[in-house]
Amino acid sequence: MSGEQTPPAPVVVLDHPLVQHKLTRLRQATTSTAGFRRLTREISLLMAYEATRDLKLEAVEIETPLERMEGHLLSGKKLCLVSILRAGNGILDGMLDLLPAARVGHIGLFRDHATLEPVEYYMKLPDDIGERVCIVVDPMLATGHSAAAAIDRLKGAGARHVVFVCLLAAPEGVAFLSRAHPDVKIITCAIDRGLDDHGYIRPGLGDAGDRLFGTK
Ligand code: URA
Repeated sequence: MSGEQTPPAPVVVLDHPLVQHKLTRLRQATTSTAGFRRLTREISLLMAYEATRDLKLEAVEIETPLERMEGHLLSGKKLCLVSILRAGNGILDGMLDLLPAARVGHIGLFRDHATLEPVEYYMKLPDDIGERVCIVVDPMLATGHSAAAAIDRLKGAGARHVVFVCLLAAPEGVAFLSRAHPDVKIITCAIDRGLDDHGYIRPGLGDAGDRLFGTK
């Protein structure tokens, strides 16, 4: 044993102009519920594109109408999207547009006011989770506590390859999640200034769940 530690997985910020345009529209307080949902769907498709960048390919011989050639198809591990309830569900639709065969798991957690620990109230995952690349989705990586707790549960259920995807992150959340799960790549559209006293990301986009589901 060399005693060397594996370096933490990278944090990827999607600086593509389309992503930044859509994110700015999402942030605007004047964006309607319908607009917020549509933009989240569109941006989620682009995030899925980045989250699947490392999938393995295998060479296959195919015939075009004109000649034989070597093409490449996905091989190896299949996917599971895992939504952290409830706001994670807003990201599923766009990702499933691009990844229609992916399985979908759900994890629900709430914070116990006495212990301040996340408590699981719902978890449903495919049986073969250990054989899949898990893309965990939650729009906001704020303190990072629920993301880390959800990934704890996921790994407890056998998951071995996990990527975390969010719209916006706070530096505090990135630091917490990277410490708790250094093997998990974080993909986000921006890392904002920080958290306020109520745990909101600033400047942020407000409460993602309320804006997605029109509950405010
Ligand atoms: N959750 C949200 O929906 N918004 C924040 O700013 C932080 C956590």
